[in-house]
Amino acid sequence: MCGIVGYVGRAEATPILLDGLRRLEYRGYDSAGIAIVDAHHKIETRKCAGRIASLSKLIAAKPVSGSYGISHTRWATHGKVTDENAHPHFDATGRLALAHNGVIENYQALKEQLIQDGDTNFRSETDTEVLAHLIGKLYIDSCATTVDVEQKKGRLVNAVRTALKQVIGTYGIAMVHADIPDFIIGARRGSPLVLGVGKDENFLASDVSAIVAYTRDAVYLNDFDVVAVERGKFEISSLAGEAGDRQVSKVEFTAEDIKKGDYPHYMLKEIFEQPVSVHDAMRGRLSLEECTAKLGGLNMNPQQLREVERIVLTGCGTALHAGMVGEYVIESLANIPTEVEYASEFRHRNTPMPNNTLVFAISQSGETADTLGALRESRRKGHRTLGICNNVASTIARESEGGVYMHAGPEIGVAATKSFTSQLVILTLIGLLLGRMRNLSTAEGSRMIGALEALPDQIKEVLQLNDQIEAIAKKYLEVNGMLFFGRQFNFPIALEGALKMKEITYLFAEGHPSAELKHGIIALVRPDLPSVFIAPDDAIFSKNLNNMEQVKARKGPIIALTSSDGAKKLKGIADDVITLPDIPDCLMPILSVIPLQLLAYHVAVGLGRDVDKPRNLAKSVTVE
Ligand code: F6R
Repeated sequence: MCGIVGYVGRAEATPILLDGLRRLEYRGYDSAGIAIVDAHHKIETRKCAGRIASLSKLIAAKPVSGSYGISHTRWATHGKVTDENAHPHFDATGRLALAHNGVIENYQALKEQLIQDGDTNFRSETDTEVLAHLIGKLYIDSCATTVDVEQKKGRLVNAVRTALKQVIGTYGIAMVHADIPDFIIGARRGSPLVLGVGKDENFLASDVSAIVAYTRDAVYLNDFDVVAVERGKFEISSLAGEAGDRQVSKVEFTAEDIKKGDYPHYMLKEIFEQPVSVHDAMRGRLSLEECTAKLGGLNMNPQQLREVERIVLTGCGTALHAGMVGEYVIESLANIPTEVEYASEFRHRNTPMPNNTLVFAISQSGETADTLGALRESRRKGHRTLGICNNVASTIARESEGGVYMHAGPEIGVAATKSFTSQLVILTLIGLLLGRMRNLSTAEGSRMIGALEALPDQIKEVLQLNDQIEAIAKKYLEVNGMLFFGRQFNFPIALEGALKMKEITYLFAEGHPSAELKHGIIALVRPDLPSVFIAPDDAIFSKNLNNMEQVKARKGPIIALTSSDGAKKLKGIADDVITLPDIPDCLMPILSVIPLQLLAYHVAVGLGRDVDKPRNLAKSVTVE
């Protein structure tokens, strides 16, 4: 949510900052801006409402030049989407520029105090500008006597610390001051910030993907870190002023991995990567001899695993839906009571949880504020908390006591796709591991492993349905919305199908357990509102069939996803039938979600939507 890039080095900063912003655009795309300190020690800024492309045009019309600066792509929280509210923001003197990701909750109180002190020079409605003014004021107050540049650096860092101590809320910031050459400051609390270490140049960014084309050496900053960055060095300290020692780590992926390649959209590329990402989620984690899964990252010994009495799965959006499938899967394989909790609700309520409850925070980005809040609250209560994350250096990954990485590779499309199927694989591995320590026989364990190993090829088969699904999508471009239904393992897939549909097509869409149809939803059924049923030929197929008949009787169009035997039984009932390979029931969601991702994708393309950057959304939701 919001992206920041900073650069200090010998190269021209503007192209590096713009390139970084383009890679971070998935985090927010309401407005964008850049602030560069030029050779005359003057801050040149260009900013505008709209996307990076608009900012690039602005810069092309009126270029800016300099070898250090900061930039920002915004997802609006405080203040409308206007040129004035675009970042970077300035202090009262116009000599300090600041880009910010996060929310300063007490900005009104801070602003009133600044106004009382005589500062009336506010130009925007943002919380960020208040922080810039506060730092600027503290800095000026500390520079009453003439000081040299080195002293100025120290004083600016101190001003940042003092200001941030007064802040309630979250921030990742990058800052420059026109009086201090080749110097940028970064700080974080609750919003990610990474330092890229180059040769005679250094970078700041909200996410390594912004800078991986320039360096793969990164330092992931912790909450309350303040970093002073120069060309050839950087210094990390805490808000209290203590020096911080941080390791430089190698970024796992390269700039090549975050290219779109021949695909028109990242979302389509990521959907088609699923045979590989699903394979990578289980690579090295299956033991044929012991007919179980090996998950060393959980950091739990067999005794501790054996003692687990309850599992809580928490997350938001698509990750929550993965958790909902996980509840069915873990209960069926391991027979351990499992609950799914919206992270945003869970963190604020007193859920009764016995000792020996294991809490899993599921998050692709590992930075989602609500999921992180739920994880911290669970830890505070003394529960063992584990992460299921894709981003290995993320806050959730670092703050949990162990976990399982997805290894899905970077997911750039705002709509989550491959991370979802990786989450499902991991939750199945957890079910298998815990199940084999309880009631699951070697034969059943071995069957599960066989089925898991067959998944990548079966996903390839499902992807071959792409043309059929595109044709179906074209039939339904004029509809007024879509309903999604499923039962048991596939009920959460109905929710996920509806979420994908609404977030990238903007069509009204809802998901429900099929049986709920007759309890109210059937009132919506009409010829311009198709119903999508996920109905494999399993033990409850006939019940799904009844629900389809009820829709049919009311002239509602039906798109059905089923397995091979189901397809025959659906003749004359469903208008369109998508046939999936046969697979054990608990693994079907990993296949059945893929046609729904493709359906949403093709409807969105057909409607001319911006698939990778849907309206009002952003990836990595670091605000509450
Ligand atoms: C939907 C989507 C969101 C995310 C949610 C959690 O396509 O992308 O619903 O799933 O914001 O994000 P992570 O998994 O990063 O915590």
